[in-house]
Amino acid sequence: MNNTSNPVPVVTIDGPGGAGKGTVAAAIAAAQGWHLLDSGALYRIIAVSGEAAAIALDDTKALVALCERLQIVFAADRVRVDGQDLTDAIRTEEAGSSASKVAAMAPVREAILALQQGFRRAPGLVADGRDMGTVVFPDAPVKIFLDASAQARAERRYNQLKNKGLGVNLRALLEQIQERDARDRERAVAPLKPAQDALIIDSTQMTIKEVVAMVMTQLASKVG
Ligand code: C5P
Repeated sequence: MNNTSNPVPVVTIDGPGGAGKGTVAAAIAAAQGWHLLDSGALYRIIAVSGEAAAIALDDTKALVALCERLQIVFAADRVRVDGQDLTDAIRTEEAGSSASKVAAMAPVREAILALQQGFRRAPGLVADGRDMGTVVFPDAPVKIFLDASAQARAERRYNQLKNKGLGVNLRALLEQIQERDARDRERAVAPLKPAQDALIIDSTQMTIKEVVAMVMTQLASKVG
């Protein structure tokens, strides 16, 4: 822990898709009155905006140029990109899968590093993603790695989509989750893994409320 260079406290919550990171991060940020960074949304925006601009998802140079010119505004639970509301468009399974492809490119990650670090403003930040504790905020005083079995994550996603009235196939969802996990864990740059000083929480058998309570206890002991 190194808190001398930047005194603004950060809670990082990393882990695979569907482990509950976003929900837990939002609850902690609301409880503390802190800022929130959903870093996965940035990779989703790059992928969806890239596809809309007919950029191939392996065209690193064009994607980096796109990152440099996109105007992204998060406000009141909505995300606007170049004036267009992309809140729902970036939440599909396809957008998640495309995001994990663009996220595997080091130049793309570098292009949005400073943007992510800029979210660190007083009184504090809760940041969720894959490399928040390992790369983007390595000096964060509280680091969480939130995991859950692939089966549990697929079932949660299945129920969310079913509640929205969308027809989905559990087996197909599980396969998509496993494929995205493998890409995120095995990539050369900023792979999904716990920071050495992270608290690992397996939420497979836990409620969101229990996870939030555990993170709040950790926060109180590290930051006060
Ligand atoms: O968390 P979410 O599912 O929105 O992330 C979408 C994809 O973006 C992930 O599968 C991962 O490949 C990428 N990502 C990343 N680093 C982050 C956040 C997300 O590589 N910090």
